Amino acid sequence: MDVYLRSIVREDVPFVQTFCAMASVSALTSIPHPYPVDGARRWFAQVTSKARAGVIWPWTIVCDDQFAGIIALKRTEPSTGAVDYWVAPPFWGQGVATRAVGHVVLHAWDQGLQILSSYCLSSNVASRKVLEKNGFVLIREAPMASGKHAGQAFAYYCLRLERAD
Ligand SMILES: CC(C)(COP(=O)(O)OP(=O)(O)OC[C@H]1O[C@@H](n2cnc3c(N)ncnc32)[C@H](O)[C@@H]1OP(=O)(O)O)[C@@H](O)C(=O)NCCC(=O)NCCS
Repeated sequence: MDVYLRSIVREDVPFVQTFCAMASVSALTSIPHPYPVDGARRWFAQVTSKARAGVIWPWTIVCDDQFAGIIALKRTEPSTGAVDYWVAPPFWGQGVATRAVGHVVLHAWDQGLQILSSYCLSSNVASRKVLEKNGFVLIREAPMASGKHAGQAFAYYCLRLERAD
């Protein structure tokens, strides 16, 4: 199975709309449910604007030439970044997220970032495995202060990109 990342394009919007509207995708993320009818269109406008500003690198995950999800790297400080992702249900359990995060780690390395972070609900076993298989280390678990999952335990992970020099 060939998994690669490419820049998001307007043609991805219908796929994002379809999959983000699925409760199975949104339940463990901050994606709203029910998903607004123009949610993907607005998401695309916001994220491409942030990408132009150099704040975020958003990619489409492509699996065997098909749309398979979204992954983004956000620069949080000059040398740190945060990774966020979801995979479309037809592609779950085939190593797609693990490989997509691996590609982002390499990109972060190329960009000179030193620390990557990510977080997920503590109960999100699949996402925790994705991070751990890419070398992320659990930093702490704590209840979310606000938002859709306020009060639920989140697991915060970090990956230090070590350089020999
Ligand atoms: C979490 C998610 C990204 C995982 O994507 P994926 O492509 O299925 O992940 P992978 O195939 O790379 O699997 C990673 C590991 O999790 C395991 N796994 C996958 N789905 C699982 C599940 N439902 N329960 C337990 N383990 C699961 C896999 O077996 C694999 O472990 P292994 O290598 O030990 O076998 C995907 O399920 C998803 O997008 N879910 C909804 C949105 C979400 O949770 N996003 C992340 C928010 S932080």
